[in-house]
Amino acid sequence: MNSNMNRRAFLGTTGTFIAGSLMSSPLAGRAIARGEKIKTVLVGTGIRGTSFWGRTLVQNFPDLIEFVGLCDINPGRLEYARNFMGVTCPTYSNFEQMVTETRPDLILVTTKDSTHHEFIIKGLDMGCDVLTEKPLTTDEDKCQAILEAERRSNNKLIVGFNYRWSPYPTKIKELLQSGVIGKITSVDFHWYLNTYHGASYFRRWHGLRQAGGTLWVHKATHHFDLLNWWLDSDPEEVYAYGDLEHYGSSGPFRGDKCRTCSHKTECKFYWDITMDQRAMDLYVKNEQYDGYIRDNCLFRPEINIYDKMSAQIKYRDNTYVNYSLTTYSPYEGWKIAFNGMKGRIDAWIDIPFMNNENISQSDMHAIEMSQEDDTMLREPVIVHKLWSDYEVHQVEYPRGGHGGGDELLHEQIFKNPDRKDPYDRPAGVRDGAMSILIGIAARKSIESGNPVRIAELTDLEPRARRI
Ligand SMILES: NC(=O)c1ccc[n+]([C@@H]2O[C@H](COP(=O)([O-])OP(=O)(O)OC[C@H]3O[C@@H](n4cnc5c(N)ncnc54)[C@H](O)[C@@H]3O)[C@@H](O)[C@H]2O)c1
Repeated sequence: MNSNMNRRAFLGTTGTFIAGSLMSSPLAGRAIARGEKIKTVLVGTGIRGTSFWGRTLVQNFPDLIEFVGLCDINPGRLEYARNFMGVTCPTYSNFEQMVTETRPDLILVTTKDSTHHEFIIKGLDMGCDVLTEKPLTTDEDKCQAILEAERRSNNKLIVGFNYRWSPYPTKIKELLQSGVIGKITSVDFHWYLNTYHGASYFRRWHGLRQAGGTLWVHKATHHFDLLNWWLDSDPEEVYAYGDLEHYGSSGPFRGDKCRTCSHKTECKFYWDITMDQRAMDLYVKNEQYDGYIRDNCLFRPEINIYDKMSAQIKYRDNTYVNYSLTTYSPYEGWKIAFNGMKGRIDAWIDIPFMNNENISQSDMHAIEMSQEDDTMLREPVIVHKLWSDYEVHQVEYPRGGHGGGDELLHEQIFKNPDRKDPYDRPAGVRDGAMSILIGIAARKSIESGNPVRIAELTDLEPRARRI
């Protein structure tokens, strides 16, 4: 149900708790001591880098942040990024040269997932704070190397988990923290990606496990981070199944790419990239430099990730989780239920028939990708105590910017990083690691047919309480 309150007004109401002093900010600290802005560089000038970690920061924090360098392996995309973000800083193809010459306070890492570790480790070792997009990395060896780099560094590593900051997941956290349903014993968590958003992963580099670690890591890192944070316990053991049945070589036909495909008329997944100016500017105009095809065929045989995934996760505090991820659902949304000793919480987002929603799934996908949509939504969280009636908590949140999480994450990182958050939302390296380790364990479990213990993957020991 749409509300009359718009997104700006909503963020205005949260401003009283997010506004604060910059003086003690760990990121801003050295810059403020110099009486200057935070000298920031960005590596990976793709869609997420140039928008959320690029233009949005330039526009919203002009007094706080100064971009002093941009880096990418694609020179065309680099040049585009400079114009799109509205900055005049130098551009680099060599990361170390950029850091040596520009001496930044902060490095933003928004490259392809499998390369994050390279820039996180070099950045920390070169004396900078680092903020990386999720996932922290894609396998356990790179994860261990990041853990060690963070331990030997005096600098800060932040993982940009935006979903925690959306008001709807935050409400669930608040209710769980209150103990209203007692000790949690089991959880059912099911995430549905539709045939626009879900399919888009198979068109892109995300379809190759060597680039994104499969959706167990690339996508499910968000979901596993939410679970770890909601339950406030570490995962201990994972048993999983997964298969590729809808996309990749399972498809009925295939072509070179959508633009030139001979199956345009019969393929339900045909996507005309020429209608999307931003995708044309970012990717098509720069194919000549790296050969990356953004509208690649989602039935190409080299796709080697799963399109249906199911796992059982046992937590250190003995909570059992049943999790699934579907990539070709007619609608996009998720459902979760927590069973506790004193009752149960049910929650869901974007299930069209549960709230008379009539937005099309293609529009939904466009909004998911956008930072500009202003619509506010209201969805219920149901608390049902044993031997008692149920209570409905209506939660208001913005539809765009990952349910309002993106904007609140920026505010916390750049405006008030030292504020003690009552919901423990800021995420560091341990959170980043624990969320990907569930996905990595799931991959290993599928390959071996056995349950996989989280403690076998890195030197992190799962704890019954996270902190
Ligand atoms: N938190 C979220 O909700 C969210 C949303 C979207 C993307 N992301 C994350 O952001 C990151 C970027 O995703 P995207 O959608 O912008 O992808 P993208 O393909 O649009 O951009 C990736 C960029 O990295 C560059 N790159 C790749 N390897 C490089 C290397 N070795 N050195 C320098 N540059 C390199 C590419 O040329 C490209 O410009 C990913 O890690 C992704 O998981 C997070």
